Amino acid sequence: MVEQKEQLYEGKAKKVFATSDPDLVIVDYKDDATAFNGLKKGTIVGKGVVNNKMSNYLMGLLAKEGIESHFVEELDDRRTLVKHVEIVPLEVIMRNVVAGSLSKRTGLPEGTLPSMPVLELYYKSDELGDPMINADHALAFGWATAEELKTIETMARKINDVLKNFFAGVGIDLVDFKIEFGRYKGKIILADEISPDTCRFWDSKTKEKLDKDRFRRDMGGVEGAYHEMMRRIGLKE
Ligand code: TMP
Ligand code: ASP
Repeated sequence: MVEQKEQLYEGKAKKVFATSDPDLVIVDYKDDATAFNGLKKGTIVGKGVVNNKMSNYLMGLLAKEGIESHFVEELDDRRTLVKHVEIVPLEVIMRNVVAGSLSKRTGLPEGTLPSMPVLELYYKSDELGDPMINADHALAFGWATAEELKTIETMARKINDVLKNFFAGVGIDLVDFKIEFGRYKGKIILADEISPDTCRFWDSKTKEKLDKDRFRRDMGGVEGAYHEMMRRIGLKE
């Protein structure tokens, strides 16, 4: 049994604790919600439990399809034991439907279908507000090697295929999502979380939003949307 030790880091939605094993850390999911790089703050009651369980479930699903992640063991409702990775300072966004910042940048209305999934890279920097970058920037400034970038792109597209199919099966359009990767024992693995905080989920029939956009856009029904996504997936809270 690994033992929880001192807190290493507190992010906007999670805390990370050291353990008695230097190769493992514990993530503890909070109910705190932020948007627009921390400008908007709030609480989504029960969100930590939903995000913990959903992220672990989806990483389990991905593992069956050969995608290695940081997931080791769910400890309780809010805490999970994960591999201690060095986070690659990139946010990778995959998009199947135009929404959010892509709609703003291109002027295309939300709901427009691109002819192929679109991969975007952002530089992880709170001070800079996570600016969009391209692969050349990542290489030129040493944020990832060419080999790592290739692996990240291949994994991101495969993750999108697996998740898009899975969510289609439960009546949800996977509009877009953000993922992060880590370095662990010389390998690139999927890290961070996959949850309604980091994905856009639309009901396939009604196009109702069932994700954090309800919080970002003050739409109400935020907690209900998170619970509905758990119900769709068949997960208990
Ligand atoms: P965007 O349209 O605002 O660029 O967001 C694209 C996707 O990435 C959406 O599913 C929400 C997710 N996302 C995060 O998880 N964290 C962030 O900081 C941002 C800006 C977006
Ligand atoms: N969580 C991010 C922040 O606080 C952004 C978002 O999810 O919209 O800025």
